[in-house]
Amino acid sequence: MNIIVREANLNDKPAIMQFVSKTWSWGDYIPDVWDEWYRDRNGRIFVAEFNGLPVGMNHIRYLEEGVGWLEGVRVHPDFRGRGVATALGEHAMQYGKRLGATKFRLISAVKNIVAHRQIMRMGMKEVCRFSILRCEQDVESVETAARIEDSRQAENLIKHTREYQAMKGFFGDRWAMRSMQEYGFKKLVDEGRVFYLKDGNAYSIAVASMDSFGSEKFGQISFIAGDYGFAIKLARILTRHFFSQGVSLCYMFLPYAHRFLDMAEYHSPEDMILFEL
Ligand SMILES: CC(C)(COP(=O)(O)OP(=O)(O)OC[C@H]1O[C@@H](n2cnc3c(N)ncnc32)[C@H](O)[C@@H]1OP(=O)(O)O)[C@@H](O)C(=O)NCCC(=O)NCCS
Repeated sequence: MNIIVREANLNDKPAIMQFVSKTWSWGDYIPDVWDEWYRDRNGRIFVAEFNGLPVGMNHIRYLEEGVGWLEGVRVHPDFRGRGVATALGEHAMQYGKRLGATKFRLISAVKNIVAHRQIMRMGMKEVCRFSILRCEQDVESVETAARIEDSRQAENLIKHTREYQAMKGFFGDRWAMRSMQEYGFKKLVDEGRVFYLKDGNAYSIAVASMDSFGSEKFGQISFIAGDYGFAIKLARILTRHFFSQGVSLCYMFLPYAHRFLDMAEYHSPEDMILFEL
């Protein structure tokens, strides 16, 4: 089959929207992010074309730590199993290499077995598993947490947690998983993203911020660790803080099979695998 992979153009959107609107029973997030991805100069949408018709797409985001983040691969149901996704992935990685990316990563739902076979065929290996939980209701909390201002203290506290080991050092950031070491603890601290709650020897530490993806604005608890009761308290403080800033949705990233935070407000865990090449 003669497939051409090229950068997306303005005319591609209607044809792509037609088949991605039915990707899953609930639809897809691609229609909501297409325009943002199309405008973003730190990334590219690629389209696979057959006989002049778009039959597949994907997107690569260049992360400044030298990582090409692959996302949004979609192939028209009539054209699956013919190497379209693989051609798109390889094309995007070539593009990423030209920008300086030395590593490529993506996430895929644990249950998406079809996708994993194709991902591993591109040579990618599993790094870790984790869960994303969502919360749409404000919580009560009257306490406050301190922001850590010393990056060495942040690094030391975070690296000694079980959760850091379980997440292989990654945190969730706008639906990408980024390595704290590569991103830089100093940068996380300078951005005011590291929060801390402590009493005596007991403590909890979290990486959290507000962000948006398409039209969705949200708070994200990108990483959280520490003593159970303290971590619950810290998660509540952060959630309350984000809701008070006007979001109506918060995400929390937790290690897989180790969802140590049992908060009724955070529900519908999506179990994911991080892959890397
Ligand atoms: C997952 C998805 C992107 C895969 O796309 P695809 O184009 O079918 O993937 P590929 O064709 O590159 O690879 C899939 C299979 O086709 C086979 N294949 C590749 N080239 C082929 C060719 N020229 N002829 C026949 N088979 C071929 C591959 O070997 C692979 O087979 P395997 O599963 O037995 O290992 C597609 O199923 C899809 O759009 N799913 C819905 C959205 C989704 O789940 N996205 C991924 C989120 S992480």
